[in-house]
Amino acid sequence: MSEIPVSPAEAPLGMLAELTHRCPLHCPYCSNPLELIAKNNELTTDQWRTVLTQARELGVLQVHMSGGEPLARHDIRELVEHASDLGCYVNLVTSGLGLTEPVLQDLADRGLAHVQLSIQDSDPVRGNQVAGARAHDRKLAAAKVVHKVGLPLTGNVVLTRLNHDRIGEIITMAETMGVDRLELANTQYYGWALKNRAQLMPTREQLATAEPIVRAASKRLAGRMQVVYVVADYYEDYPKPCMHGWGARQLTVAPNGDVLPCPAATAISTLKLDNVKDRPLAEIWYQGESFNAYRGTEWMSPTCQVCPRKETDFGGCRCQAFLLTGDAAATDPVCSKSPDRPIIDTILARHHQAPEPLDAPLAMRWLAAERGAR
Ligand code: SF4
Ligand code: FES
Repeated sequence: MSEIPVSPAEAPLGMLAELTHRCPLHCPYCSNPLELIAKNNELTTDQWRTVLTQARELGVLQVHMSGGEPLARHDIRELVEHASDLGCYVNLVTSGLGLTEPVLQDLADRGLAHVQLSIQDSDPVRGNQVAGARAHDRKLAAAKVVHKVGLPLTGNVVLTRLNHDRIGEIITMAETMGVDRLELANTQYYGWALKNRAQLMPTREQLATAEPIVRAASKRLAGRMQVVYVVADYYEDYPKPCMHGWGARQLTVAPNGDVLPCPAATAISTLKLDNVKDRPLAEIWYQGESFNAYRGTEWMSPTCQVCPRKETDFGGCRCQAFLLTGDAAATDPVCSKSPDRPIIDTILARHHQAPEPLDAPLAMRWLAAERGAR
């Protein structure tokens, strides 16, 4: 018999199912943790089926199958079919490598509803450099396959100092690819992106140049391609409403079954994570220590407690607060009211006074086992 939840949380709307950390790409902005989970620690097919069933029972309606590269799982077809049979809207978040027409047609026949394709750059050479693989042309081919099969397509571009100057070309390329929704997302600094922050962070000038280009494109493309721009939060006065609040709308299941309140939450080393192998998902969502740690507003710092924006941005991002201050309950240092804002200002000042050379080496994302085998 199920227990009465101890928290007043609503049921989650979505689940990010990180099926694997294996990936053919090695993007230096990846938000996966530096300690990637190896194949032999991944959940089995049956365990993922149970997770999906429990997620639907909990109320989840949207399942984002992600990674790493979800197509690296041999059981992707079965998992898509299972989630779809449960009544979930299933989204495949992919690099596009391995997305051939027979593979996608099969996934669509089994209920896949949407594809989200990562795009590195409009310049093939730069795109391949950042991907750490010959990926660019294969992404263009993957977009064609998505059209042929007739699924809606979101293009996701992580913006960095290395591609920001080509934002106009990137939008044009997305139009040519027939993207329905284009996410232009400035890098958020977790995982590998944090490690490479000095090389990846755009300049204030790049952001100022991009803004009118994006605004004009949004207007011109209205009704044809939705353009979503995610700001570079270090340059903002107020933080992003990360996850729309902790433990409020979405949960993430990592490849090993750890259940995370946000995809980057392993960064918070003080957080006690539960695993689907030990506890049912509903119990973790409602009663888990990690989900209740920063739910609501009671945990907030005195700065946020008295702020009229506390129900708007929820004090910003817990992972960013922890990574920059060592305290996950601190006001996000991006906030101009935060006593820790000087941390951000110092990073920005250093970035502008002594920027990394554009060809400075990047720490590429590799699984330890892959790196050894290279
Ligand atoms: Fe948001 Fe807290 Fe800053 Fe207010 S003080 S704007 S609630 S982060
Ligand atoms: Fe974890 Fe913002 S990325 S709370």
